[in-house]
Amino acid sequence: MIFYREMSLKILGVASSMREISYSTRILKQVLEKSEKNGAETRLLNLRKLQLPIYHPEKNNSSEIDKVTEYVKWADAFILATPDYHGSMSGVMKNFLDFFWSDFTGKTFGYVCASHEKGLTVMDQMRTAVRQCYGWSMPYGISVNSDQDFDKQGNITNKNIIARIEMIGRDLVVYGSLIADQYKKDLQSKESNTFAARYR
Ligand SMILES: Cc1cc2nc3c(=O)[nH]c(=O)nc-3n(C[C@H](O)[C@H](O)[C@H](O)COP(=O)(O)O)c2cc1C
Repeated sequence: MIFYREMSLKILGVASSMREISYSTRILKQVLEKSEKNGAETRLLNLRKLQLPIYHPEKNNSSEIDKVTEYVKWADAFILATPDYHGSMSGVMKNFLDFFWSDFTGKTFGYVCASHEKGLTVMDQMRTAVRQCYGWSMPYGISVNSDQDFDKQGNITNKNIIARIEMIGRDLVVYGSLIADQYKKDLQSKESNTFAARYR
């Protein structure tokens, strides 16, 4: 196990497929496992099980919203996992981002997508939304193809995907820790012309 900081980085994996046997959720779980091996503490938020209402600015009282709020505030970093729906993220994922955008500042995001293409537009659209919420995005993600990357039992057969899972499970802990630590230092410092100064 590699320790990069005194406290473990807290990573929240967000699954947004409504399918019980979901490829994106499966990969997300493996990334969380690798992140734990690199010293992170992880939680899985599966939006298929903990279903949020559709975002409404005046109707925001529910036990589901409270539970997800607690998870989001707990996290230092996120991995967002989604199926490719028309070249974009699932509506469930977009709804999650609409609810919790104000808690993403100073946090790092990694991405997983299940697509029959390469999932690039999907991950870019999640990056765009996260940028608008002042989150920091990993420059690469993992895109899996259900027809090409798995055997009939659902095991990953593509060695490149296995290597990517290892890589992002390591990199998110390293870069997520650097950004989280610097953001906390900047919040506490008196320096005025920093990104974090706006959030004191
Ligand atoms: C509404 C809808 C739209 C979809 N649009 C696309 C698409 O534009 N491109 C694509 O490659 N796959 C598309 N798909 C297929 C899913 O992305 C694919 O089945 C994926 O593996 C599902 O991920 P999951 O197993 O995590 O649910 C679509 C599926 C649905 C239900």
